[in-house]
Amino acid sequence: MTAAERIIVPLDVPTLADAISLLEQLPQVNFWKVGLELFVSSGPAILQVLRERQKRIFLDLKFHDIPNTVAKACRGAAVYEVDFLSLHAAAGRAALTAAAAATQGTSTKLLAISVLTSLSARELALDLKISLELQDYALQMALLAQDCGLAGAVCSPQEIAALRRVCGNNLLLVCPGIRPTWSDPGDQRRTTPPAQALQAGADYLVIGRPITAASHPAQAWERICEEITAA
Ligand code: C5P
Repeated sequence: MTAAERIIVPLDVPTLADAISLLEQLPQVNFWKVGLELFVSSGPAILQVLRERQKRIFLDLKFHDIPNTVAKACRGAAVYEVDFLSLHAAAGRAALTAAAAATQGTSTKLLAISVLTSLSARELALDLKISLELQDYALQMALLAQDCGLAGAVCSPQEIAALRRVCGNNLLLVCPGIRPTWSDPGDQRRTTPPAQALQAGADYLVIGRPITAASHPAQAWERICEEITAA
């Protein structure tokens, strides 16, 4: 895979019109992520727009519900031929297994959210009463997802090396929280540069604001691709 094929850019915008404008600013981007904000506003119309432009799609809706509902929602999403679709590993074994069965034979690969990186170790322990260390918990959730037949996991760059070691090479690892050394970290706290995340074992990187909020988005994209290729 080329550097450009490994980068997923999020369409973190409120409307379909804003999404189209971002697509037009960055025609060289091949893989886009559609999250809750845009999908709630645009509905499946954005998926149609992306498909017409022959883009790959990560539909990041992070499903978390009872097995029957999760499985049917996954099957519904697979009808749009999205490449990746996310759901919470914490939905449990029955939901994950049902989701995997519901999308079998389709072109959609399921990615498990191991633990939201917005949660601190303190919140995990004190509010959610999860007694494992955050990293151990993330690892256990990824193993559960793998055991249930999911194709991959979304993880923070800090977890890539441990997940790769424990889960082997067959689990796709998709990482947000990526920042080139020259970009503003924004609200991402523990960030990793793109080439380093790939060297640690990530398959795909989700890179948003360093590209979309740059004064010249196309130049920022080129620079990141060059850095990855040179590494
Ligand atoms: O702009 P930035 O590069 O921080 O965008 C990262 C994208 O990845 C956003 O769409 C964000 O919601 C998403 N994300 C994340 N951390 C996670 C999961 C998803 O930043 N753990």
